[in-house]
Amino acid sequence: MAFKVGLLGLGTVGTGTVEILRDPAQRHPLLQDIVIHKVGVRSIDKPRIVPAELLTTDLESIVSDPEIDIVIEVMGGLEPARSLMLKAIANKKHVVTANKAAIARFGDEIFTAASKAGVYVLLEAAVGGGIPVIEPIKKSLCANRINAVTGIVNGTTNYILTRMQLEGGDFTEILSDAQKLGYAEADPTADVDGMDAADKIAILASLAFGGRIKLPEVYCEGIRNVSAIEIVYAEKLGFVIKLLAIAKRKSSDELEVRVHPTLVPKSHPLASVNDVYNAILIEGDPIGQVMFFGRGAGAGPTASAVVADVLNIAALLKVERATQQSEPPTLDPLLACSHQHYCTIAPMKDLSTRFYARFLTRDDPGVIGKLGTCFGNHEVSLESVVQVGIRDGAAEIVVVTHQVQEGNFREALNQIEQMNAIEKVASVLRVL
Ligand code: HSE
Repeated sequence: MAFKVGLLGLGTVGTGTVEILRDPAQRHPLLQDIVIHKVGVRSIDKPRIVPAELLTTDLESIVSDPEIDIVIEVMGGLEPARSLMLKAIANKKHVVTANKAAIARFGDEIFTAASKAGVYVLLEAAVGGGIPVIEPIKKSLCANRINAVTGIVNGTTNYILTRMQLEGGDFTEILSDAQKLGYAEADPTADVDGMDAADKIAILASLAFGGRIKLPEVYCEGIRNVSAIEIVYAEKLGFVIKLLAIAKRKSSDELEVRVHPTLVPKSHPLASVNDVYNAILIEGDPIGQVMFFGRGAGAGPTASAVVADVLNIAALLKVERATQQSEPPTLDPLLACSHQHYCTIAPMKDLSTRFYARFLTRDDPGVIGKLGTCFGNHEVSLESVVQVGIRDGAAEIVVVTHQVQEGNFREALNQIEQMNAIEKVASVLRVL
């Protein structure tokens, strides 16, 4: 029984996908039933790994081809990826996509259309590249009440932070070196400013907590302001700095969903996830903690996830065809999107977290006391206050708080910034 696929895009991930599909030996036997029917590319003049007769620049012809069962969208970007996926769905084709940006923004529209048309939209490759995390949340962990998903889901920033940690270098110089080495994009904005991670945690939160997520409500802070000084002080205090993407159940009807650089205790399972690796820690009841670790990007790992989704759909189609179920088919409720409402995301001011802050102050008597009093007046309890030395003629004071309300901490910080003795609030980071 053959299942015909049409690929939209033959870049890094598309090429990796074709390589797996054309080399089924010692892989799942169902792979032999997958036939590449058409491949949509921007230009047919370049040498490609598929025969020229499969190539077309007419992407619309793929999503409307009656012979194609599954459309694999690996072209990336928002448009025309969104429109093509919607057209494929309208033509009753199942869709496999690696496109986190399109799903995080248009998931509502895409999944509503897919439910109506009775087709699957699977997206394992959109988060964590080759790491199986979406299907485990949907299926293997479905008996659990998920309480938190905490991930290192961006390889570029993890690579930069790891090198800053190991070499003591500054963000700008390591970013530029990472670009030269091909570990960071020429335009690194989506990675270093946290948007790529925000797309991914929005998708994970939606799956883990069974509701849609409005991307603009996801708090997003990147790593541009993480300096070598913070890495050194974090290290002295027993932490490493990681860009974490966090989705957490705050109450029965409210979530926290956020991305920011975070001081992570060295003993925490995510602290030792280094370089371009990704990891996602899920906390559920009753399973407790379970962590998924692996390569979050690259042709092979991402294609591994794409092809797994293709095989999942092919397996379901095989059963359906064998039993000749009537139209429209009943979708597997664990694999299809089964929620329509939006989750409520709590404002950051209500976040309960610990903070690290570094101040440059006049080296006068009583400055530490004033800081402590101001924090105390705003119900911010301090775990430690240390004058760590003198920098640029100013006293350098590092504060770590207990668990506090972010709103209270920010109000205290506003007052502290007005104090004559304070020259600069040099850094503020959250602590896991
Ligand atoms: N740019 C991403 C990263 C990979 O650096 O992790 C694709 O999601």
